[in-house]
Amino acid sequence: MKKILPLTCIVTILSLPALFANEPDSAWLFSYATERNAGHDGLHFAYSIDGQTWQSIGSEASFLTCDYGSWGSQKRMLTPYLISGSDGLWHCIWSLNEQDNAFAHAASPDLVTWKRQSYPRVASDNCLNPVISRKAGNYVITWISTTDNKLYGCETSDFKTYSAAQAINASQHNNNRKVIELSEGQATGQIHRVAWSQVALLKRTVDNHRYWDMLHNERTVDDPVRFAGLNSVDAKLIIRTGESKPISDLLTGIFFEDINYAADGGLYAELVQNRDFEYTSEDKQGRDPNWNSTHSWNFNGDGAFTIDTMAPVHANNPHYAVLTLTQPGGRLTNTGFNGIALKKGETYDLSLFAKQLDGKGGQLSVSLIGKNGKTYAQATTGRPTTGWKKLAVKLTANADVPDARLEIKPLAPGKIALDMVSLFPRNTFKGRKNGLRNDLAQTLADIKPRFVRFPGGCVAHGDGIGNIYRWKNTIGPLESRKPQRNIWNYHQTGGLGYFEYFQFCEDIGAEPLPVLAAGVPCQNSSSGGGGQQGGIPLCDMDEYIQDILDLVEWANGDAGTTKWGQIRAQAGHPKPFNLKYLGIGNEDLITDIFEERFTLIFNTLKEKHPEITVIGTVGPFWKGTDYEEGWAIASKLDVPMVDEHYYQSPGWFIYHQDFYDNYDRSRSNVYLGEYAAHLPGRPNNLETALAEALYMTTLERNGDIVSMASYAPLLARDGNTQWNPDLIYFNGLEVKPTTGYQVQKLFGNNAGDSYISNTLSVNTNDDKVRKRVAVSVVRGSQSGDLIVKLVNLLPVAAKTRVTLDSTFTMESNAQRTILTGKPDGLRLIPVSDLIDISNDFACELPAYSFTVLRIKEKSK
Ligand code: AHR
Repeated sequence: MKKILPLTCIVTILSLPALFANEPDSAWLFSYATERNAGHDGLHFAYSIDGQTWQSIGSEASFLTCDYGSWGSQKRMLTPYLISGSDGLWHCIWSLNEQDNAFAHAASPDLVTWKRQSYPRVASDNCLNPVISRKAGNYVITWISTTDNKLYGCETSDFKTYSAAQAINASQHNNNRKVIELSEGQATGQIHRVAWSQVALLKRTVDNHRYWDMLHNERTVDDPVRFAGLNSVDAKLIIRTGESKPISDLLTGIFFEDINYAADGGLYAELVQNRDFEYTSEDKQGRDPNWNSTHSWNFNGDGAFTIDTMAPVHANNPHYAVLTLTQPGGRLTNTGFNGIALKKGETYDLSLFAKQLDGKGGQLSVSLIGKNGKTYAQATTGRPTTGWKKLAVKLTANADVPDARLEIKPLAPGKIALDMVSLFPRNTFKGRKNGLRNDLAQTLADIKPRFVRFPGGCVAHGDGIGNIYRWKNTIGPLESRKPQRNIWNYHQTGGLGYFEYFQFCEDIGAEPLPVLAAGVPCQNSSSGGGGQQGGIPLCDMDEYIQDILDLVEWANGDAGTTKWGQIRAQAGHPKPFNLKYLGIGNEDLITDIFEERFTLIFNTLKEKHPEITVIGTVGPFWKGTDYEEGWAIASKLDVPMVDEHYYQSPGWFIYHQDFYDNYDRSRSNVYLGEYAAHLPGRPNNLETALAEALYMTTLERNGDIVSMASYAPLLARDGNTQWNPDLIYFNGLEVKPTTGYQVQKLFGNNAGDSYISNTLSVNTNDDKVRKRVAVSVVRGSQSGDLIVKLVNLLPVAAKTRVTLDSTFTMESNAQRTILTGKPDGLRLIPVSDLIDISNDFACELPAYSFTVLRIKEKSK
């Protein structure tokens, strides 16, 4: 599908020599992999005219890489074996690693585009040096198992089902691998006789990649050379106000994922870290000995602080603290998330569950104490009883403190159990209980996002089946929620759960867009299975699908007549949340395992809830196997919308502004669920922000099929980032929106629901210049305003003449907002003013700038 136009000329030119040059009809093609990079580099090719001297194609360019297992230790291709099949396809099999009882298979019509991979578990032990051959319409696969040093084989006709593995003798293992010399060193692989056109295609593919890489790597640091001699450009924008098409009114939204401490320690206003004593070394896969139930807690004074699980407040929350004091004075402190930030005069609600296990016991003194030892707030709770009892008290800070600690001091000796120790600012967003940090939530609300996607990302599909995010674990009383490992290697309490997400959406007027796993975990999972994506066993899928149906009922069901509607009402929201969109899957590896489960979920939702728009998934990239296969499934099932993801260089965004122009309007709509411009060092600066703005103008232009878009990731706590760049950085006290945030905010605050026809021309034939100036014109039916967005990613001003048709009568001035500065500007802020306008006016776009004009039509 699409993407052909800009390449056409290059491809034609590159393919012309084959017509003229003195080239052979056929050649030798060598297929191989190396173990240089632990097998991560995948399948390479070399060719030879005479069968003696070999040249590698693209110097070990990768034509197929392995998708099996987690990043780092897995995703290896060992000893690939390639044959030309009876079905006209090439079939490649390879060994995955030294231990797993599976091999990998993928097929290709041309050795360039590859179909989905599969990893059949045919062996009882490991599966090395696999070989494939044809036998009477079938394929025979043989391999060596080094655990018993025997050879095995099995047969298949379709690479979906395989006969049982049988021991074979050496003559049946048809290993035709050869060793050849290449300039990169010796290589082991197979020799094939192919038409020269096959070799030419592989070479052309490498040349095309190199050409595109060159464009994608263009950066502003090279602009002084690239644009030497360019002083300014003249541009002409003609706006035809009478010609328009409707576009999505949901285009700009946000994608919230608990990454970079975005939830606990971030948007979720809880100030106590590890409040439930449920941190476990598994959260960090055993790599941090200090990451356990006592993390963030310290005990000082006489006595002991231990962790118990004998009789918890709730089975879902089994660990709790036990303090044993022979005399008063012992105190338990919590350090919060890099300290507890306090604001003078603000009230903080402390609550905890306590149980007197031994001794008479007494009240608990709770204090907020600075690093200097000063007490900034103090209060005393009621007396614990012999059963779990929730105690609550209010604390008011008497100063601003960036990094206080919470101290709990039993006033009498004895043995006491504590759990769910919580400290919340009373001033949460909209004053919600168990609410969100006001400043962060407001910063998000200021974007005016039209939807919120949650809870991920990788968090949604999780690290292995057991880590798939289950929405039911995140609702109800906090002590009953099931905390779990966060795939980004920390801990999620579930305190910010589905109820809070939906409530936030309602509070900011955004559509909730929950994303649920498609019955498969993250393809990069490192735990919970045999290394590959795997999937919920089919026998458990009914239950899994029921959970999804229950979610729809929980969100939309009647409080009086439905079970889940009633549960929502009991939690404090009798009115339905009005859920309209549901994402199924997150950039999954598209395998048969995925397709089977996605189809089951999709068909059930379509049947039971035709009112819900299901959003499918098409892999993590803008092209390639998952993208193509994901789109094919979406078309086959008629999925209304698909979620595309791509993180690319600014150059990519500059040179792919036509990405959606060529999309087939009869297929699924698009939700661009994750995108961002990435530069080396991963800053979020004016250069990346302008590349995104440039691209967002194309999203508006294609707003008839691109329904939603969200930058990713959203939030990052200083010192706790797993991913850069992000849109908003923060610490305990400050919120630090990036330059890219300002772009999102300008789009969110200047959205329209119709796209106005326009033409922008720049007085040059130089594509590098032309592609750096972009425009979109929209109109909002509510405001009636005509909104013109102009991006100039050039190092010089673009002197622009704007012409509107004479029938359009407007106010004589327009609001102009400009975001500009140096390309490396990290926290730039836009500036607004009023400018005089008419049906033909001049508007200079400063070098490296994003300009928004709001033009008001004169009331007649
Ligand atoms: O946005 C960060 C991550 O990027 C998301 O979790 C995942 O979907 C993507 O790979």
